[in-house]
Amino acid sequence: MLSPFLRLRPSVRSTVGLTVPLVRYSSRSSFYQAPGAHVKKSKTKEELQLEQLERDMRSSKWYVRWWATFRTKEFQKKMTWYYVGSYAVFLYLGWKYMGGLYKKDQELDEITGKMNTQGKVNEYEMLRWKQLTGKARYRDEKKLAEYEKLKAKGVTDFDGMEITVEGLNHCHEKILPARDTTGFYDSKAEEYDKDIDWEEKMVFMGKRRKWLMKHCRGDVLEVSCGTGRNIKFMAMDHIKSITFLDSSEKMMEIANKKFREKFPLYKNAAFVVGRAEDLVDLARGKSADIQHSTIKYDTVIEAFGLCSHEDPVRALKNFAELLKPGGRIVLLEHGRGEYDFINNVLDNRAEKRLETWGCRWNLDIGELLDDSGLEITEEKRTHLGTTWCIVAKKKDDKKRDEEMTFVEKYLSPGIQERLQKMKEEEEIIEAMKKKKND
Ligand SMILES: C[S@@+](CC[C@H](N)C(=O)[O-])C[C@H]1O[C@@H](n2cnc3c(N)ncnc32)[C@H](O)[C@@H]1O
Repeated sequence: MLSPFLRLRPSVRSTVGLTVPLVRYSSRSSFYQAPGAHVKKSKTKEELQLEQLERDMRSSKWYVRWWATFRTKEFQKKMTWYYVGSYAVFLYLGWKYMGGLYKKDQELDEITGKMNTQGKVNEYEMLRWKQLTGKARYRDEKKLAEYEKLKAKGVTDFDGMEITVEGLNHCHEKILPARDTTGFYDSKAEEYDKDIDWEEKMVFMGKRRKWLMKHCRGDVLEVSCGTGRNIKFMAMDHIKSITFLDSSEKMMEIANKKFREKFPLYKNAAFVVGRAEDLVDLARGKSADIQHSTIKYDTVIEAFGLCSHEDPVRALKNFAELLKPGGRIVLLEHGRGEYDFINNVLDNRAEKRLETWGCRWNLDIGELLDDSGLEITEEKRTHLGTTWCIVAKKKDDKKRDEEMTFVEKYLSPGIQERLQKMKEEEEIIEAMKKKKND
């Protein structure tokens, strides 16, 4: 029997020639089920999701299977425990990390305190201090590894001990042996400026040269002046005299021309052709005693020179000898970077660089300074650490106020004073005790 809600219409011909009964349902007609008709029950949202989940679990793609696993009820139930577990691990690691930091801080305080009170520490402590303050170089790390081996064997007292380890500049197979480059630069002089110009512009080297030149004070010596690329950044306001030195006569000729063009009337300028390694002899002239030789400088500067010297450490030692008290050595150099990938590039192209530019661009500049016995008061590195901007002084020279760290300037004198007072008090008490006993 037909449902009262269903009204049949006469059949119409479909476009493919079949006769299709036209059925119109009233709003309630969807409940109607034709006798014998197979009606598919529509699936609920949950059922569809479950089916999708099962399909995903069987997927050939690992990330689909993973994502499906995260959606399973079992996993979500366990999630709370995962959260609690992860939080506990996080807390544990944080606690360990903070503990490590605290220990390092304490060790640093101890070493700094010893430096301030006793004026010196043993080599191990000095190396640890460097490591803790992020100043340890390759050789320092190697020495520390040796000390750690001794510690593992039960040695605890390192006083008076010194470990010798070869530096990177001597033992790295890709750091080529040094050589005299005078002939090379004589032949390169004419095209030097043109060839280097674009390379320097690409890395904004002018900014670094400006930094170098703003340090010039009093009597200035520029070593390895080359074609005088720093002259355009030179301001004479604080300069009393300027001496240029280079081993290549041809490079020096170009520097001389540039200087005369920029400062045609300046009188206190000297141009010396000679090697940085012979500087002390050159400055001494006929006098046998360097201490009484009149030629000393307030500022010795050098840009990209150490990489082309035959003996860069000797050159640095010479700079130190020619410094007036309070004088500074200011260097703009290129060398090893702060990352392995860039050092690999420098190492792999070291030979080519030496051929085309006459320089060893993969030297560890910091190690050269350590070997020369100079003390660095400022060290800034750019271009992935390959450009070194360094201000250094003689070790026995006092630091200027602006070169001191906050601790050195304000805290150390206070600590020293307090410790000295405590020491005096202890001595008085000891003396009184002794007197009483007598
Ligand atoms: C890479 S160039 C740098 C030139 C210049 N300072 C500049 O910034 O463009 C190196 C310079 O160091 C000079 N030089 C190399 N060995 C030297 C040495 N032992 N003593 C003095 N100058 C040296 C070369 O003649 C050359 O002019």
